[in-house]
Amino acid sequence: MAKPSVRYVCQSCGASHGKWTGRCDACGEWNSIVEEAVGEAAPRGLAPGSGRKIAFSALAGGSAELPRRASGIAEFDRVVGGGLVAGSAVLVGGDPGIGKSTLLLQVAARLAADGADCAYVSGEEAVDQIRMRATRLAVADAEIRLAAATSVRDIITSLDDKAAPNVLVVDSIQTMYVDSLDSAPGTVSQVRASAQELIRLAKRRGAAVLFVGHVTKDGQIAGPRVLEHMVDTVLYFEGERGHQFRILRAVKNRFGPTDEIGVFEMSDAGLIEVANPSALFLGERAAAEDGGVSGACVFAGIEGTRPMLVEIQALVAPSSFATPRRAVVGWDGGRLAMVLAVLEARCGVALAGRDVYLNVAGGLRITEPAADLAVAAALVSSLNDEPIPSDMVVFGEIGLSGEVRAVSQTETRLREAAKLGFERALIPPRRGKTKGKDKTIAADEIGRLDHLVARFGTGGGGLRPPLRRAT
Ligand code: TYD
Ligand code: MG
Repeated sequence: MAKPSVRYVCQSCGASHGKWTGRCDACGEWNSIVEEAVGEAAPRGLAPGSGRKIAFSALAGGSAELPRRASGIAEFDRVVGGGLVAGSAVLVGGDPGIGKSTLLLQVAARLAADGADCAYVSGEEAVDQIRMRATRLAVADAEIRLAAATSVRDIITSLDDKAAPNVLVVDSIQTMYVDSLDSAPGTVSQVRASAQELIRLAKRRGAAVLFVGHVTKDGQIAGPRVLEHMVDTVLYFEGERGHQFRILRAVKNRFGPTDEIGVFEMSDAGLIEVANPSALFLGERAAAEDGGVSGACVFAGIEGTRPMLVEIQALVAPSSFATPRRAVVGWDGGRLAMVLAVLEARCGVALAGRDVYLNVAGGLRITEPAADLAVAAALVSSLNDEPIPSDMVVFGEIGLSGEVRAVSQTETRLREAAKLGFERALIPPRRGKTKGKDKTIAADEIGRLDHLVARFGTGGGGLRPPLRRAT
């Protein structure tokens, strides 16, 4: 039987099908199947002795520290684990227009200023457009080699010799193509093959390669998940469209931690590092303050190794819908449902029939369970129209039985809060010695959620009817 010359590959999960269908059986995605030409034949069995012997080495010994190339942009360097590792591949994903090209051009310029040989290959913009951007970023005199190219063969021909750069930026892996494949650029096979070839080039020449990756509408790096497996580091550059803040987050890193974030502000002259994000995220709060508003609570969080204070805002309002609305920005909707259920079931707070809106100010996305208590405080405060003192921070995890559970790095959180002028804290019970505890901030330890409800309202049966003035 003749071998089929085409196959049908899901662009979302990479599964291969014998015929075209509207929906991928493997991942359930609609309209993701694209016809691709079959590449080389399947490998035959390998006879022992037909290959080369591999030299195994001992685990012990070897170089202690990987040589790293730091850009001097601290927010970037920390997220990649201290600097770019020679021979490694980094993928930077993000929505269109979020600032990926801007970030990488700025990083390349700083590296070039430190003496690194940087090449920037763009498949999306012409050289003049990149120059214009560089002028805007005030890095036009950086010694970066620019090229507008999309053929991986041409890139390798140009760079795979003594001209190999120390750092290679490939602006959008989805625009690159390998001419030995028939499928269009951006398809799974092209993205995979292009990345593979460029990563090989980087490993051969000890260059660090940075790929820009597009993101699909549901927030994943477009094309194959396989790309994320091929590279050493996956970073996401994210931010709310209406906000100036941009957050660089590591989701995979073979050479560093994955819970670090870098915070930037997009200005008309490019991205500016934000060394003290707490002050920034709370900046608008201080300006808007007039004796405190209900429903706002400052959460003392930790992102990676860094404490970060953010304001959590809640609005609880009578609902005009049969099913009340629950809308969340910057936090997990499932977690909000849990906090609402615990408030209702364990503390007698009546939330049924009310819409609940929750927002993390400044466009930050919080994933820590430690935010539970701050969310509960904001909710109760809004429900009872009872402002939380403006000099108070809150953190703690809530359990299903209504208990407040300890979280990590209590002292670090308190120190950051004290540094920013907060004087009170509502925290989970602390165990152990008093030594090392922060004395500059009055920390109130609460063990149960109903203690919080009692503080910011009367809770239970004696609950003051909310928003009475409005009716
Ligand atoms: P860009 O880096 O092109 O985004 P991406 O490569 O992720 O698609 O950034 C584009 C946006 O950033 C664009 O909307 C304009 C804005 N921008 C600034 O606000 N200031 C600047 O200095 C630059 C270069 C871009
Ligand atoms: Mg771009």
